[in-house]
Amino acid sequence: MLNFICPVCKKELYTKEKSLLCENGHCFDISRKGTVNLLRTGKANHGDDKRMVMARKTFLDKGYYEPLHAVIRETAAEYSYDGCTLLDCGCGECSYTADISRHFISKNINAEIIGIDVSKEAINCAASRHSGIRLAVASVFDIPLPDKSCDIVLAMFSPFSGSEYLRVLKDGGIYITAYPLEDHLFELKKAVYDEPYRNEVSDTGVDGFELLSQKDCKFRMELKTNEDLISLFEMTPYCYKTSKTDREKLDRISALSVCAEFGIAVYRKK
Ligand SMILES: C[S@@+](CC[C@H](N)C(=O)[O-])C[C@H]1O[C@@H](n2cnc3c(N)ncnc32)[C@H](O)[C@@H]1O
Ligand SMILES: [Zn+2]
Repeated sequence: MLNFICPVCKKELYTKEKSLLCENGHCFDISRKGTVNLLRTGKANHGDDKRMVMARKTFLDKGYYEPLHAVIRETAAEYSYDGCTLLDCGCGECSYTADISRHFISKNINAEIIGIDVSKEAINCAASRHSGIRLAVASVFDIPLPDKSCDIVLAMFSPFSGSEYLRVLKDGGIYITAYPLEDHLFELKKAVYDEPYRNEVSDTGVDGFELLSQKDCKFRMELKTNEDLISLFEMTPYCYKTSKTDREKLDRISALSVCAEFGIAVYRKK
């Protein structure tokens, strides 16, 4: 099993009773759910709050993004092997990694899966899935894992931290990510904004990585209830940026057909 490293002195952390302890005596409690908080004290927590976490869980658990889940679990399986380590950076409530974990079990791939997120609420919610994923509250900008310890880094819609991904990946390690394409959720934006904009899609080059593959995953979602529509809205960044008046327009909509459009890119560490 891969051990976490101490966020203070970077030494390996070992389990001692109900804590993780490094040789310099820094000690971190293991929660009843088996998670550990490795965020350095004093660092602000900019992670998702409980409402966003619950919105994403409600929406994703209904299977609306199943085509994307399928691409992600199959891509992860393609680059995995027995004994490999997959790290989900900004894992949220682990919708994707829990799905990957089930898929690996069905394919007899015996991998170690770790999820980190800066949001305590997200990590708590992820822990209640009991999907065998090791979870820590930690930042992608200070990953509590040793250099060259991971085979795959997965980052789904979380902040990009290229130098940390490069540090924790083994030589030739794989980085998998997804990003919204131009028309992603356009109908939802049209329902809220007077002048909806299309997403800008930046180029797929990432320093230190070679692009191995890129594919699009586009599908239509028939949102059947206002609750589903609100959950989708609340799990997006629009939730922060929208005025109360615009947001209230959604209350009058009971169903909506919305397109979801993602790019999925796979990179190899150079
Ligand atoms: C849009 S959500 C995506 C969650 C999950 N990957 C998914 O796709 O379902 C972004 C996540 O990144 C987390 N996050 C934000 N800043 C972070 C940081 N510096 N380190 C780790 N996680 C972070 C948030 O708490 C949130 O759970
Ligand atoms: Zn320490």
